[in-house]
Amino acid sequence: MNIDISQYQQLLTISKELLIQSDIDHVLTISMDRLIEISGAERGIIILFDQAGDSLFQTARQLEKKDIENPEFEISRTIIEQVRSSEEPLYLPNAMEHPSMKKSNSVGELRLLSVICLPLIYQKVLFGVIYLDNRTIEGAFRADTFTFVQSFADFISLAAHHALVRKQLENRQILLEEELRTRYDFDAIVCHSPQMIQVLQTVSQVADTDIPVLVEGESGTGKELIARALHYNSKRRQMPMITVNCAAFPDDLLESEFFGHEKGAFTGAFKSRKGKFEQADGGTIFLDEIDEMSPALQVKLLRVIQWGEFTPLGSDEIQKCDARIVAACKTPLNILVESGKFREDLYYRLHVFCIKVPPLRERKQDIILLAEHFLKDAAIQMQKELPKLNALAKQILQHYSFPGNVRELENIVRRAVILCKGKTIKPEHLPDEIKSGFTFEQDDASQFPTFKHAKQKVVDEFERQYLLRVLHESNGVIARAAQLAGMHTKNFHQKLKKHNIRATKTASN
Ligand SMILES: Nc1ncnc2c1ncn2[C@@H]1O[C@H](COP(=O)(O)OP(=O)(O)OP(=O)(O)O)[C@@H](O)[C@H]1O
Ligand SMILES: [Mg+2]
Repeated sequence: MNIDISQYQQLLTISKELLIQSDIDHVLTISMDRLIEISGAERGIIILFDQAGDSLFQTARQLEKKDIENPEFEISRTIIEQVRSSEEPLYLPNAMEHPSMKKSNSVGELRLLSVICLPLIYQKVLFGVIYLDNRTIEGAFRADTFTFVQSFADFISLAAHHALVRKQLENRQILLEEELRTRYDFDAIVCHSPQMIQVLQTVSQVADTDIPVLVEGESGTGKELIARALHYNSKRRQMPMITVNCAAFPDDLLESEFFGHEKGAFTGAFKSRKGKFEQADGGTIFLDEIDEMSPALQVKLLRVIQWGEFTPLGSDEIQKCDARIVAACKTPLNILVESGKFREDLYYRLHVFCIKVPPLRERKQDIILLAEHFLKDAAIQMQKELPKLNALAKQILQHYSFPGNVRELENIVRRAVILCKGKTIKPEHLPDEIKSGFTFEQDDASQFPTFKHAKQKVVDEFERQYLLRVLHESNGVIARAAQLAGMHTKNFHQKLKKHNIRATKTASN
């Protein structure tokens, strides 16, 4: 195939344009418009077939870069079928006079003259065809145009096939998500990010076992929702799920809360009382904020996990209990084990299965989906017409780091619904602190950013990541983080404020 230098350059430009497209409809439309431009065709169509040979996607365009309505009546089935079965390109200066086409009704009725029809082949498998025609000029396509269009078709095959595979994977993911949701009733957990889908898949794998599960995640990430999903997808779902917040009680009260007590076990114990483990018998006990539990109680918890038994306060009788244990923590337990705050043996018992719920800033795909979910909830609750988030409000939410995670997003949205008097939620309805680190972008996303703007964005993101890392490194101790960063504590505080980062102590050494 011979093509000249200018055609080669043209081909290169178009190919680059195509290969950066990930959306199949865009790939097909761009390809079609360029093919019509290059060839001088009057109309064109690209059809992609599924494995059964049915049309899966098609784009039909005309010279004016508009879609053709009802393309199936406007092209010749005979020509398409011939290229599909022969897998060979077809180049007809006058279709009506061509021996093999003369008898074709569609060619005659459509009064087709110049036609090019090419197979789209990827790894030796035909998956589509390109069709171009001109009904007014005989021999409208020159032989070198045909050669050039053939070269271009190779790139279209590549780009279209990649976009098609991506589309099929996306469709498959949506189907799997739907299946996961209906099968496990995960309706309460709104998400679309691959990280959260992975979390839900893990929940579905481990739910119906008796293995203890540890749910790890920052504040407000949805740990309790995951714990509920574990219980309600287990065979224990008919039995109670009992929650104990380990941080809410002093040590001695927590022990009685866990295991119950006999009358007179301590001052004020006027009657005997069942503990949470006994209440959860046959069901699930959710030990929230287990990272706050004292070492003394950790030993007693270990005994329940190991032997399934405990002794109520003031009693000599050992009680058996069959409660599935789900625990949640904000500080990764291994950090507490290292600093001697958490028993290693208990850690290994609890850590058999650990589900890490990622912070919202690491799954930005979920932000708008969640915001719209909370918007709907709030509008129903407040009996308001459902408002929409405008583009800028969405941008602001998407750029914010959400130190308080999903709970913070929920609060922001509720507040916005209260403040919003019209049908649209705009930046003015969002809290100032989430706008402070945000540099307003041009409304027109296609506009090229200025150097200053682009650089600022990169610097901001770098600063944010750096601060998070150094805080992590210093276990949330600001003075130590500032020292590591070589900054004055005051400056460090200012930077944290700018990026709306709250330091949370992960462990105190
Ligand atoms: N994926 C989600 N879909 C819908 N709502 C969510 C999701 N994740 C969290 N939420 C909501 O966000 C709020 C916080 O969730 P949850 O209480 O489960 O978080 P948590 O990690 O247990 O928080 P904390 O660490 O403060 O105890 C709840 O109102 C919950 O319903
Ligand atoms: Mg919680």
